[in-house]
Amino acid sequence: MSAVPDFKALANPAIRTLAAYDPGHDIPSLRRRFADAGGLLELGSNENPFGPSPSVLTAINAELDRLHRYPDPSGKALKQAIAQAHGTAMAQIALGNGSHELLMQLGQVFVGPDDEVLLSRYCFAVYPIAAKAAGAKLVFVDAFPADHAMPLGHDLEAMAAAITPRTKLICLANPNNPTGTWCDSSQLSAFLARVPSHVLVLVDEAYIEYVSDPALRSAVELRTRFPNLIVARTFSKAYGLAGLRVGYIIAEPALLALLEPVRESFNVNALALTAAQAALADDAHLRSVVVQNAAERESLAGALRSMGLQVLPSQTNFLLVHFGAKTSAIEQALFERGVIVRPMVGYGLADYLRITVATHPENQRLLANLKAVLS
Ligand SMILES: Cc1ncc(COP(=O)(O)O)c(C=O)c1O
Repeated sequence: MSAVPDFKALANPAIRTLAAYDPGHDIPSLRRRFADAGGLLELGSNENPFGPSPSVLTAINAELDRLHRYPDPSGKALKQAIAQAHGTAMAQIALGNGSHELLMQLGQVFVGPDDEVLLSRYCFAVYPIAAKAAGAKLVFVDAFPADHAMPLGHDLEAMAAAITPRTKLICLANPNNPTGTWCDSSQLSAFLARVPSHVLVLVDEAYIEYVSDPALRSAVELRTRFPNLIVARTFSKAYGLAGLRVGYIIAEPALLALLEPVRESFNVNALALTAAQAALADDAHLRSVVVQNAAERESLAGALRSMGLQVLPSQTNFLLVHFGAKTSAIEQALFERGVIVRPMVGYGLADYLRITVATHPENQRLLANLKAVLS
């Protein structure tokens, strides 16, 4: 055999030092391990425990006899349904194999080694990956302190002040993962008004359906005023389709046209297209998920606070909880009991765990295990 090449040296310089996205524990093997011990309690990935609309299953079934055919390459029917739901034109929608794919495309197309990408300190982990993969310089802006009214939330004043002539892209999730915190619509529009029009702003609304605060509405309504605004959405959370991988962005058609050449052919599969369309059409199911989540979010946060824990305000389907110096031991003890929550070490928040809000029985099981572990 000839010598094995130094693959790292062959890779693009920007990729050589890049760490992969951490998806958490090996869930399939843990499901087998805890199958006879009450089952695994999966609270680590902000999935929707109520599942998708029943009409999704009907739609998928109807698609099964066409699996030997490629899907619609442009996803026209789904784009039309999304455009109608938002009152926008179809040309303003791009679909992705999850919104993660679209975040990577934005980095690939718009960001290069001379550019800065502006991020809030506790931002979603994919933004630094997308920016670094493109060779850009990351500029992290400090978030609000832990004792602020919006603890660890985005400080939009500081972010606006950190814009330089090299800033190309600003990414922020609203509400934010992993903190659960949010900026209201008036703060966001005041911020956008301070961003030069040649700087792209990605507002990632992966959790927007879960919001109950009327002061926070979707940024889609701001797009007519700010053509540099890109809004990202996903079917992975409130629509309960994480396993199918489908998300979208809403942006100017001229911007989306530049993503087209790097988009993988048929990037959204046939089952995902039909499922997302069915999910979007079932507003009653979405409402039911959102109402149940809001009630469980409040009662779980209350129960955790009554145990003496600091729980950050959240408008999402997860809670960020401060456990202090014993965080890692607590996470490990929960793990041994088949309760999976997300450690935050990778986010620089080693004293916190992120916990998905689940169904009422699941939340009760979490609380019972947590009480046992803490005592
Ligand atoms: C803020 C945020 N954006 C995007 C995503 C990615 O979602 P998708 O499943 O659509 O790739 C997630 C997933 O957790 C998220 O939390």
